[in-house]
Formats: sequence, C-alpha cells, structure tokens
Amino acid sequence: MEYGPAPESTKEAQAWLEQRGRQFGLFINNEWSEAGELFASINPANGAKLADLTQGSAEDVDRAVAAARAAQPGWQALGGHGRAKVLYAIARLMQKHARLFAVLETLDNGKTIRETRDVDLPLVARHFYYHAGWAQLQAEEFSDYRAVGVVGQIVPWNFPLLMLAWKIAPALAAGNTVVFKPAEFTSLTAMLFADICVQAGVPAGVVNIVTGDGRVGEAIVKHAGIDKLAFTGSTEVGRLIREATAGSGKKLSLELGGKSPFVVFEDADLDAAVEGLVDSIWFNQGQVCCAGSRLLVQESIQEKFLGKLRARMDKLTLGSPLDKSMDIGALVDPVQKQRIEGLVQSARDEGCSVYQPACELPADGSWFPPTLITGASTSAAVAQAEIFGPVLVAMSFRTPPEAVQLANNTVYGLAACVWTENISLALDVAPQIKAGVVWINTANQFDAACGFGGYRESGYGREGGREGMYEYMTALAEDARPAAPVVEPKAKARGGVPAGSPFGIDRTAKLYIGGKQARPDGAYSRAIHGADGAFIAEVGEGNRKDIRNAVEAAHKASGWTKATAHNRAQVLYYIAENLAARGEEFAARIAAMTGSKNAEKEVQASVERLFYYAAWADKYDGLAHQPPMHGITVALNEPLGVIGIVCPNEAPLLGFISLVAPAIALGNRVVVVPSETHPLSATDLYQVFDTSDLPGGVVNIVTGSADELARTLASHADIDAVWRHDGSAEGCAEVERLSAASLKRTWVGGAKGRDWYSTAQSGGRAVLAHASQVKNIWIPYGV
Ligand code: NAI
Repeated sequence: MEYGPAPESTKEAQAWLEQRGRQFGLFINNEWSEAGELFASINPANGAKLADLTQGSAEDVDRAVAAARAAQPGWQALGGHGRAKVLYAIARLMQKHARLFAVLETLDNGKTIRETRDVDLPLVARHFYYHAGWAQLQAEEFSDYRAVGVVGQIVPWNFPLLMLAWKIAPALAAGNTVVFKPAEFTSLTAMLFADICVQAGVPAGVVNIVTGDGRVGEAIVKHAGIDKLAFTGSTEVGRLIREATAGSGKKLSLELGGKSPFVVFEDADLDAAVEGLVDSIWFNQGQVCCAGSRLLVQESIQEKFLGKLRARMDKLTLGSPLDKSMDIGALVDPVQKQRIEGLVQSARDEGCSVYQPACELPADGSWFPPTLITGASTSAAVAQAEIFGPVLVAMSFRTPPEAVQLANNTVYGLAACVWTENISLALDVAPQIKAGVVWINTANQFDAACGFGGYRESGYGREGGREGMYEYMTALAEDARPAAPVVEPKAKARGGVPAGSPFGIDRTAKLYIGGKQARPDGAYSRAIHGADGAFIAEVGEGNRKDIRNAVEAAHKASGWTKATAHNRAQVLYYIAENLAARGEEFAARIAAMTGSKNAEKEVQASVERLFYYAAWADKYDGLAHQPPMHGITVALNEPLGVIGIVCPNEAPLLGFISLVAPAIALGNRVVVVPSETHPLSATDLYQVFDTSDLPGGVVNIVTGSADELARTLASHADIDAVWRHDGSAEGCAEVERLSAASLKRTWVGGAKGRDWYSTAQSGGRAVLAHASQVKNIWIPYGV
C-alpha cells in the first residue's frame, strides 16, 4: 500500500516569522537589540531563506555576560521554589506551543516533522519539568553546593531546541544565569524560546541569547566573566575550547562526537534489531552524535541480517520533512552533504561495497540516501571518522570478546547498542564497552533523568540526571580552600650516606613500577634535604621512559578494576593496618623532611583516610532510574582507567593518600608523582604496599621533577585522567592545555591548596566523582 502525501501546515510558523519581520536581533536582558550584521537562515529542504539573524560581536557577548552577572544574585535569591515555578511555566508553555516549535524546527533544520513533533518536543518539555523538580529540591538534595554563576553554553545544529533545553534547564535550576549561543544554521527555535522566557516570567538577564558563528562561540569561551562552559559539538572545537580555557579556572563540560557501535549477537531478535538500527543510524539523517554508525554483526547471521536490513532500507521514505509519512528528511546544509559524499567516495575508492536503495532525491536542498557500506577495514576512514550522516558501516565478529574489542576500537566513547536475547551476555558485554550510554535491545532513548555524555574523546561531563546537576554547581568546601603554601626545595648540597643510618649503608629509593622497585631509566638521582637543609636521602630522577613503563604496568593491572569492591576495600584496610604498624617510622620521616610538629597527626589522618576510602569502595553505588519506558536504566559509577597523579608538597603522606586512595578504591590504577620536595614518605610506602596484597601495577610511583613528569602524564595518549594538586598555577594550566589532545579528564588545584585534613575538602562524593564516570545502561523488558 502506498501512502499519499500528508503535509504539515507551516502557516503558523510562517506567520510568526512574518510578524517578526523575518529579522532578529539579539536577546539580552529580556530585550531584543536592533538587528546588526546579518546572515541568512535557510530551509535546507528547499534552499529558501527563512529569516535573517544577527552575527553577534565580542561587545554583544560582553553585554550579555554583564546582564547575566547582574541577574545572577536575584535569580539565586528567588530560591528553589521560585525557580521551580519559572521552569514549570516554561515546560507548560513549550507544551502549549509544541506544534509551532516542531514546525519551525523542521523548517530550519530539515529533520522530519515526525521527529520534531514526537521526539524533540516531548523531550524538551520533559527536561524543563524534570529540572523544575531539581530546583524545588535543591536546598534539600544539594545543600553542600551553590550555583557556579554565569554559564556560557554553545550548541550544534542537529537538535537545536533539545540541546537548548539540555543546557538551559539544569543551569537555571541550579541558580545560574546563562549566555547561550545556538548554531548558526539553526537559531530560529531559540528565538522563539526567548519569547517563551518572557511569557514564563524569567527575570531579565537570566537567559541571554547571542546568535552568530564560531566567532561568538570564541568570545564566550574567552570571556573572563564566564564561570562555566557547556559545549556540544565537534571534537575538534571541543579541543580548542579545552586549550583556550586551560588555567582559567572555568568549569567545563564537553559533549562531543561519536562512532558508536551497534552490536548484534546471533541470538538477537533480528527484526527488532533491524528496527533498532533504523532508529539508530537513520534517525535525524544520522546527524546524531550517538548514532549507531558501526554495525557489528555476528558472523553466523551476517548475511541473513544484512539481507533483512537492505530490504528495510528499500522501504525507507525520503522527502519533504514536513510530510508526516517521511522517514528521512534533508541534511542541515550543503557543506555536510559534501563531507558525507567525500567519505562515502573514499570507501568506494578502497573497494568497499556501497548499498543505497533506489530513491529519488528532491531536486532542491541537501539530501543523501540511506547508505550501507560493507567490506571496510577497521582502520578505514569510514570506520573511524564521525560521518554525521545516514551512512552505516557494517563489520562482523565471531565471539563476544571480539565484539567488545571491535566496539572499543575507536577514539570515541559516547554510546553503544547491544542486541541479544541472552540477558547475561548483554549484562556481561555492556560494562566492557567504553561508552557513556549503552542501550540493550533498544536505541537512541533519552530521558532527563538518565545522564548522557561520553567516555574518551567523546568528551566529559553529563547532561541529565543527578550527575548533570553537579555540572552546574560548585561544592561550598571549594570556596574555603586556602592558598597553597610555597614549599621551597632546600639547597642541593650533595651528601654521602643518609644521616642517621646506624649502619652507614646507602639506601637510595628507586621507582616503584609494576609492584617492583625499578632503577630510573636515566640513571640519575636527586638529593632530598630535610627541613634543616641537611641531606637525607636520594631518590630516582624519573623521566619520560619511566612514565611510559609505569603506564604500561598500570594497564596490565586491569584485574584490579575487575576485582570486587569488597576486595579493594580489604586491600585498603590492609594498607592502613601496615601503615599504622610503622606509624612512628613514618612520623619521623615526615618530621625530618618537613620539620612538621604534626607528623604523628599526619600519619594518623592518613590511616583514617585509608579507612574512609575503604569504606566508600563498596558504597559508591550507582542508581536505578525508571524513565518513561517499560524497563530500567542502571547508572553505574565506573572507574576512569589509568590516572596520573601529581601530589601536593604540604602534608606529603596525607596528600598522597588522599589522592591515591579514592582513585584505587573505585578500581582505577595510578601513576603517582609524589611531592617533589618531600617524596620519601611515598617511597617508604613501597614496603607497605608489598605486604598489603596490593597487586603489582595498581600503584606506580615515579619520583622526580613535578613539572616534567606532569607534562609527560598530560601528553600521554594512554592515560585517562591527570590530577595535579601541588599548588603550581602554571603547571596546572599546562596539564589542562596538554590534556586537550586526547581529551583526558583533569582535576587540578591551581594556585589554591586544600586542607588535606578536612573531609569536606579532601573527601566525599565530589572526590569520588573525579575518580569515576557514569555509564547509563538502558534495559527494557517485557515481551
Ligand atoms: P562545530 O563544533 O563547529 O559547531 C558546534 C557549535 O560550536 C556551533 O554553535 C558553532 O558556531 C560553535 N563553534 C564553532 N567554532 C567555535 C569555536 N572556535 N569556539 C567556540 N564555539 C565554536 O560543528 P559543525 O561545524 O557545525 O559540524 C562539523 C562536524 O562536527 C559535523 O560534521 C560532525 O561530525 C560534528 N558535530 C558533532 C556534533 C555532536 O553532537 N557530537 C554536533 C555537531 C557537529
């Protein structure tokens, strides 16, 4: 049966554009500025101009930031209930005008009306409702936190209004004010949203919208008055933003590209999997960061599955996005079409087979047919690059471990789909896939209660859920952090045998790699002096090669991550026990190095901190969400992997323990650079570790220059995160800058110190959150 056309009327949307004179200024302080330098917004389905928008300038961004800053205290003072009412009003208004928004979005973006009407708009409203709830509960649920302040938000063109909601709703709920920049291709629904803000009673200056291209984005990123940046877009621009904000102290969340695997096991419901694939890669013309663009299908069913898939592709309808019966609409812009064509051509040139159903493409506008590529090698451009179009690349695997290996063969880690009727296989595979979201027997499901965000080069931070709220708040304890004390290294007078050694035998601490003491590669040592300037001992001078060896050892120790939390807790308790047994010796060492009168107290606090994180190891549980589907979403707190840690100089033992213990408690492995000036209480720990059942490679210690070793850690491609807390502002900025290449997570203290004795500042969920990332696994059920 053939369906006739079922066009959606554009009357209201066109009338709204007419009423606005098809020209828009900027929305700052609840006022529309005069239109300035203009650029056109085009309907990509037919190339027709819809309206002119203003290219904002750096001065406009200044005005927007100033308005946001002025409005923030009042917005905060409105209280949780006051803000909840405003967010609730926005949600209601979005529902009331849902059709207008949906049509306008379809006109502006080219995506089908079915999607804007049935997916985008309901999710937008849900996001505002959900966050009205967090505003209401903020005082009770986040009492140790405050709003960050003024937030800069930059979004792409693929889900213009949905991304606006994902950004603005949590920011406002937490008490922030925002400067928002829509994508230059798709700003119209943001313009309409500005009207909604006024109607909903959003106070002036709370939401400011500056349109324009990347230059406006850059001005927001660089603006000193911005306290937090939230960006969704390409990994390339995400990197630039990380570099540009290094050392600025701005909080940052990045939601970047993906190349998500769609894994089909032989026992899957194949027809359902084919439908899932349609939702996964042909939803929004594949212009979806979490699109399932790599099909991994078990070899035994490959031919059968691809046959079903091709038959389904033949039935996909492509054409006017306003036609309610269309599956596939227009691409956002000719530039995207060229990019996709180039990548598909590269596959043809490499001899891959390219399947496209015979469908007629409309003469005007930007269109691309659904495409299936087979025969590509795992390293081919189409298998590795984010195509961001309706192009699926299929490969096969034989065994579940091979499926996991192929799934993880990407620099990205945004999402994955796993299709099998075998629940134990699904729940075995899901945690092994490095991705922030895993959908089991479903695809592209989203909900405000379930955090969304990436692993690896797909970025960091989460949107939605409780974890998404933390992205827009600062722990109150952070405000109380003191300036880091300056610890000057003592004059480097070389001595011979360590003072106080009764038998006069030289003992130089080596490095600690893979559970063994290792000589430094460079065969250099550095002298360590006590508080009185006297020589105490020498430690190895670690270099780039030593860090490389330590990272390798840390990767080999992956069994630690798989060990049970109970086991990890036992090891931490055991370390505490052995440290306590040698407490006097450690206290004497600290006193000799630092001259501290509190050395015993520091050892005691270190023992207690080990207990503290041993306690947390099996209690930092995830959550089970019940989103609006028949099923559950399990939010797991997963370790990051390998973390490089540069320790503080003050409290050399307690600082070391306070950073290493939470990291390993949650299953990470670490490469630690102990205090540059006082490293001996760390090197003394080797024997404690050796007698505490800590597997080799979980904690690796490389002594030497903090600056040099931090640089190596931050540039290393196989390290997942770097923490630096030695009070060096420039050093921390450098870590952030260098982390951009592989988009490592960073946690740096900057010029501020930390009260290492205070659990509020050096403990709690905030620290554990730095050591983990949330994976949301969607598990529908029912028959
Ligand atoms: P983009 O990353 O350049 O643009 C996203 C947003 O960032 C836009 O609002 C843009 O104006 C702004 N922007 C651009 N340069 C900036 C800068 N230097 N500083 C601050 N903001 C800046 O993405 P684009 O060019 O629209 O698309 C290119 C490719 O990026 C796509 O083909 C796709 O592969 C990927 N992409 C991924 C998205 C995702 O959700 N993961 C979304 C959009 C694009």
